[in-house]
Amino acid sequence: GSNQMWGGRFAAGPDAIMEAINASIGFDKRLARQDIEGSRAHAAMLAAQGIVDAKDAETIREGLLTVLSEIEEGRFTFSTALEDIHMNVEARLKDLIGAPAGRLHTARSRNDQVATDFRLWVREQCDAAMAGLRALQHALLAQAEAGADWVMPGFTHLQTAQPVTWGHHMMAYVEMFGRDHDRFRDARARMNESPLGAAALAGTSFPIDRHMTAEALGFDRPAANSLDAVSDRDFALEFLSTATICAMHLSRMAEELVIWSSAQFRFVVLSDRFSTGSSIMPQKKNPDAAELIRAKIGRILGANVALLTVMKGLPLAYSKDMQEDKEQVFDAADNLMLALAAMEGMVRDMSANRPALEAAAASGFSTATDLADWLVRELNLPFRDAHHVTGTLVGRAEAKGCDLPDLSLAEMQEVHDGITEDVFTVLGVQNSVASRTSYGGTAPANVREQVARWQEALA
Ligand code: ARG
Repeated sequence: GSNQMWGGRFAAGPDAIMEAINASIGFDKRLARQDIEGSRAHAAMLAAQGIVDAKDAETIREGLLTVLSEIEEGRFTFSTALEDIHMNVEARLKDLIGAPAGRLHTARSRNDQVATDFRLWVREQCDAAMAGLRALQHALLAQAEAGADWVMPGFTHLQTAQPVTWGHHMMAYVEMFGRDHDRFRDARARMNESPLGAAALAGTSFPIDRHMTAEALGFDRPAANSLDAVSDRDFALEFLSTATICAMHLSRMAEELVIWSSAQFRFVVLSDRFSTGSSIMPQKKNPDAAELIRAKIGRILGANVALLTVMKGLPLAYSKDMQEDKEQVFDAADNLMLALAAMEGMVRDMSANRPALEAAAASGFSTATDLADWLVRELNLPFRDAHHVTGTLVGRAEAKGCDLPDLSLAEMQEVHDGITEDVFTVLGVQNSVASRTSYGGTAPANVREQVARWQEALA
């Protein structure tokens, strides 16, 4: 038969293929709680404005709560014929309370309804991402505090560059995830306007109070333009772009953990709880969690591109194309939260291999810059000359198969006769990192200050 929600002008029901392409209930059932929350706010407002009488509004309210508990307890039968979550809920409400159910949709359309539900859902995901990022930052801070003065090689081009501290490296991620947190906070603030009451696209002739429903749903204000309110999905796109940047940061960190946990680096030992074995190679301990986190950017960026492509070129106001927004955002959000939780667990459980970090920090001529700086400071050489002298010394050491501090004073003086015994003090990696006291530099004292600053900010 024809549809009970809009079948008035239809003689026949839809083809099975039509139903299959049209129905969204398979995924938008995840909006059930938000849908019922929105309907409750709408019903209360209709009563307050005298559009629906108080008794009907109360019957609707109780009925909606029953529907919610049926859904939450898994006792609800979702129907594809009823297309989406909005019509599934309303149809069940009608079974439960009869005629008053038909009054709920006064001054409302599924267009403002879905825009409201989805905003509420995405807003919650912003909160979840912010919480996940804070937890990850706490785990990183604990690592940074423990290893504020542990030296390790710093890299550029993945080639040994200058020694840094473990704490400094951990704090670099604290900064990145701090910006991700703030991006979710900003996106949340911008999306926090209520579409409810925009109705199909033009607003309504009923004397509704959009400020009341906006406030009831925790929105800062009603969206100012009804066409925009039902057409806008940039709140979802902003969530996805923010999620993409965050996933990119997670991916970079995951890549470092994969490298660092390899037998060639041995910078970190990942816990058994976040590693897997191999069914054929008994010695293996694989960083699967890190690899999967590294990969999550693929689907999250994919969702971002997919929704942007869906939205591009859509005329105002609502088009059914927009139903394709939800699966992308659901998948991206689920995977981002999982990646954040897994990264937090890995960071919390991992142990840095201090001797391996120290040994690596001292190798690869990592203090060559310190030597050049010493030549400038102590012998008043122009930096370019100091760079050249140091380069020559590195060449000698390389030919000998040793590191810079292993050259004798005599060998150094052959290259520049002004060099004295004092040069060896700057060739130690501890001295090197301790000297990097410029603001934001890697000196342990700086790292401790930054750890304290963040601990206070996050307290
Ligand atoms: N299921 C739809 C969606 O996700 C709800 C809105 C439908 N509105 C309409 N006019 N057909 O976008």
